[in-house]
Amino acid sequence: MFQINENYLKLPGSYLFSTIGKKVNAYAAAHPDAKIIRLGIGDVTQPLAPAIIEALHKAVDEMGAAETFRGYAPDLGYEFLRSTIAEYDYKARGCHVEADEIFISDGAKSDSGNIQEIFGTGNRIAVCDPVYPVYVDSNVMAGRTGTYDPDKETWSDVIYMPCVAENGFAPELPKETPDMIYLCFPNNPTGATITKAQLQEWVDYANKVGAVIIYDAAYEAYISEADVPHSIYECEGARTCAIELRSFSKNAGFTGVRLGFTVVPRDLKCGDVALHGLWARRHGTKFNGAPYIVQRAGEAVYSEAGKAQLKQQVAYYMNNARYILTGLREAGYTVSGGVNAPYIWLKAPKGMTSWEFFDYLLETVHVVGTPGAGFGPSGETYFRLTAFGSYENTVEAVERIKNI
Ligand code: MLT
Repeated sequence: MFQINENYLKLPGSYLFSTIGKKVNAYAAAHPDAKIIRLGIGDVTQPLAPAIIEALHKAVDEMGAAETFRGYAPDLGYEFLRSTIAEYDYKARGCHVEADEIFISDGAKSDSGNIQEIFGTGNRIAVCDPVYPVYVDSNVMAGRTGTYDPDKETWSDVIYMPCVAENGFAPELPKETPDMIYLCFPNNPTGATITKAQLQEWVDYANKVGAVIIYDAAYEAYISEADVPHSIYECEGARTCAIELRSFSKNAGFTGVRLGFTVVPRDLKCGDVALHGLWARRHGTKFNGAPYIVQRAGEAVYSEAGKAQLKQQVAYYMNNARYILTGLREAGYTVSGGVNAPYIWLKAPKGMTSWEFFDYLLETVHVVGTPGAGFGPSGETYFRLTAFGSYENTVEAVERIKNI
């Protein structure tokens, strides 16, 4: 008789955004007249920029002609995209990342879930609390997290680093020593950031204790302040301790197109073993590459026209962020985030839990957000709103909340 991976049975409930989706769909079915505004999952709403559409069309035409048709993509991704990324995302910021240290993928969600595969199951992970659930859930599936305490909503073998108002939603170096440290800045879900000096402390710490940092920089395009790093490789010593995850979903609206990449520097080693080789082996075995047409679209993100158009798109969402931030503040809410990130993190009012506030907002004003508890115990009394809606819906949602 076959056996299953019993670690899956340890996972409480379904994936956060699936749970929310089901709840909202059930509410919508029962209340067909309710005009629901969805500011829950961080899904973009603006159409793809013209430069990207143009690149897609061109690549589609190439696929229709024998001379320019492409089959399987190279394991790591097409050279034209990897060298463009190395040039614009790294070299231009003074970071040392080579094109062959960049692995193109179908997005940061898959990479953030899959990257743990190249590490031993005995490794201890440290995560921010609240945290993007994929980091923890993928380690649960791998059997790395111990037992679940349903009262505390924590795993026995996970080191939680509370990110709360008192520490400016920035994690402090943990008391116990982790082997793998997940960091995401600008942060999902709190929208908080840390400065380059703060990130340097993490890099120094990881190098000192022999830990690896898995750095999720999916939201770097939303940074507006000068001392906030766009990449962990801006820090000295990061090449020997950090892997960086990047996404095209939020900076270029690719949530439905799918494209991302992971940087594994050749200097990152466990003893004599370079993690680059392990990830290359994993990638080559389990992944057949992002589509050619999508990689061409990704290249267009870095063209002069693409950059100008996407700057406007990011500004559009950040205008929404500002609107939510100021509107809710005026209405008396305690609000943060939204300055270097498209997420606004607010305290649920009147002592409500985050799920109570979720139900309350859905039922009274038909606005959907994400309950902080879904991201971890320190999110229990918080709530996340995304700035990725349309401007009209954002304004309408804020007005409805203000008028409660
Ligand atoms: C979120 O809403 O936290 C993210 O958009 C979900 C994701 O990127 O997978």
